[in-house]
Amino acid sequence: MHMGHSEFAHAEKTVSVTFHLDDPHALTDTDQAVWELKAAKGQPLLEVAVHAGINIEHACGGVCACSTCHVYVTQGMSDCSEAEEDEEDRVEEAPGLQINSRLCCQAVVEGDGPIVVHVPSWNRNAVKEVPH
Ligand code: FES
Repeated sequence: MHMGHSEFAHAEKTVSVTFHLDDPHALTDTDQAVWELKAAKGQPLLEVAVHAGINIEHACGGVCACSTCHVYVTQGMSDCSEAEEDEEDRVEEAPGLQINSRLCCQAVVEGDGPIVVHVPSWNRNAVKEVPH
């Protein structure tokens, strides 16, 4: 799954997905900690966020080859696709592993929601931390 494709650009977005950001500055360059978005069924959570300008880390480009897109799904886990083995193996490497941990490039919106996602503050690109 590669980011930047627009296959959902015109899809009907009916599912409420709310992102809670621990560190909105690092991810959005704003103070906005809560983002109430709409997603289309079939859309990965990562894409929902990135489209809205929430730059959740996705070092591998969303192909389940890193664990930087680790988030917590605090509501609506059953409205997301089930984690496959690849994701489960990978997410175990992520810091702060919890029962509701997901790699948001792999968690696809399937149900009617609402879905609530918590993005911990350690989700940020180390490169962005360099003072500029
Ligand atoms: Fe690498 Fe999700 S972006 S596993």
